[in-house]
Amino acid sequence: MRGKFYGIGVGVGDPELITMKAVKLLKNVDILVLPEAKKTEGSTAFDIVKDYIGENTQKLFLEFPMINDEDKKKEIRRNNAKKIEELLEKGNNMAFLTIGDPMTYSTYTYILDYLGTEVDVETVPGITSFNSVASRVNVPLVIGDEDLKIISLNSSTNIRKEIEDNDNVVFMKVSRHFNELRTAIKESGNLENIILISNCGKDDEEIHTNLDIVEKIPYFSTLILKKGGIKYE
Ligand SMILES: C[S@@+](CC[C@H](N)C(=O)[O-])C[C@H]1O[C@@H](n2cnc3c(N)ncnc32)[C@H](O)[C@@H]1O
Repeated sequence: MRGKFYGIGVGVGDPELITMKAVKLLKNVDILVLPEAKKTEGSTAFDIVKDYIGENTQKLFLEFPMINDEDKKKEIRRNNAKKIEELLEKGNNMAFLTIGDPMTYSTYTYILDYLGTEVDVETVPGITSFNSVASRVNVPLVIGDEDLKIISLNSSTNIRKEIEDNDNVVFMKVSRHFNELRTAIKESGNLENIILISNCGKDDEEIHTNLDIVEKIPYFSTLILKKGGIKYE
């Protein structure tokens, strides 16, 4: 009988911020699918849940390189989905681990696009990066009638307009265009209205409220901008 395919959200760092359902499944699936950006880079998601994994669970590292060639990326996703399907066919129950939540900017959803409709899929939600970050510093994301926009920062983001148009903005993937972001925040008079967290929930976590002294921005960094102000000491 064909195995079942699970997408499991593991949160962004703190191993205790994961659902009971996820922990139960991690103990029992046959194969863990661990996405990695570069071969041998290892899996951040695995590091978070390593204490919950069953003794006999196998690991399947699948490479999803961060490249600009869209056709090549599609080919890699298709090939990776094929490998998963072959193992499901053999009766293995498989869990694809995702940092944060599987339905939020995750490679997992690209794999779903390529799996056949006959595959039985179950997605187990996880706590997103921006929810984790907001809770970490006790800053509400939205309240009352306010709105919130989540942005994956890229070269076509009109940062000034996004700040103008929304009460609250979450900027993800900030490392790639940090200087432009910092300039827009400064020029729009919002330097006091931000909080930036890198590696939230991990040993090397950093929390910044003064962007002027920030030098190196790790990939796992998220910035919250609240035009109504941020209370954080
Ligand atoms: C590919 S997205 C993954 C999003 C994830 N699925 C979620 O639910 O938030 C990667 C981005 O998530 C954010 N992120 C992930 N882990 C984080 C962490 N530990 N601390 C701060 N931001 C993090 C960063 O903005 C990073 O660039």
